[in-house]
Amino acid sequence: MLKFDIITIFPDFFRAAFEYGIIRRAREAGLVEIAAHDLRAWTLDKHRQVDDRPFGGGDGMVLKPEPIFAAVENLTGTSGGRSSFLETTRVVLLSPQGRVLTHRVAQELASEAGQVVLICGRYEGVDERVAEHLVTDEISIGDYVLSGGEPAAIVLIDAVVRLVPGALGSETSAVNESFSDGTLDYPHYTRPPEFRGMRVPEVLLSGHHGEIEKWRRERALEKTQSNRPDLLK
Ligand SMILES: C[S@@+](CC[C@H](N)C(=O)[O-])C[C@H]1O[C@@H](n2cnc3c(N)ncnc32)[C@H](O)[C@@H]1O
Repeated sequence: MLKFDIITIFPDFFRAAFEYGIIRRAREAGLVEIAAHDLRAWTLDKHRQVDDRPFGGGDGMVLKPEPIFAAVENLTGTSGGRSSFLETTRVVLLSPQGRVLTHRVAQELASEAGQVVLICGRYEGVDERVAEHLVTDEISIGDYVLSGGEPAAIVLIDAVVRLVPGALGSETSAVNESFSDGTLDYPHYTRPPEFRGMRVPEVLLSGHHGEIEKWRRERALEKTQSNRPDLLK
């Protein structure tokens, strides 16, 4: 069982996010558990303040360290920061400054982690002491800036859950998908065999499995070469 604990100031953001398809089935099958927690639950002041102005001046607000440390320690059942986490606990700060989420990073989390705590930043970001002393990983979902870590948490959870053994069921598998063997997936077609003059490649209608396999390997390589040559390096 892989447990995801999301720390956010907008827990309602996730209300429908995990209610569909593969993630829903994986939850129902007891393969994964996902909970969104309101960061304000770990504030101690009467205004339940989670942010404050940046030292040194500048725009915007910064998420304060105290409630985030308290939330992580509470959710991981520890009290000594990073060094006291179980080996299978990963505490992830979602950040445009992190290492980029790839198939390999998702695989690492799916195979090694028992609990993944996800910290969603907002505003100008999170007090740097969280990155320096609390988290095990800083992860970005790409080289662009989102308004908050919540969409990134959904992307990360979706990518990881697909790779949890049993999550995809028997009808489909992650083995042939893009990135699993270093190339993109091959092109897929379904009925009708002809649509507005556009025909499905004849080989796919031939029933010749060897030829179909060969065609798929070639097209996957061709598409990778054209769209993502960096993957072949
Ligand atoms: C507006 S951003 C802060 C950006 C920060 N000032 C910077 O320039 O690096 C607010 C929050 O959104 C989340 N975020 C933004 N872009 C992201 C990305 N590419 N991947 C993951 N999280 C991201 C982070 O949690 C971040 O703390």
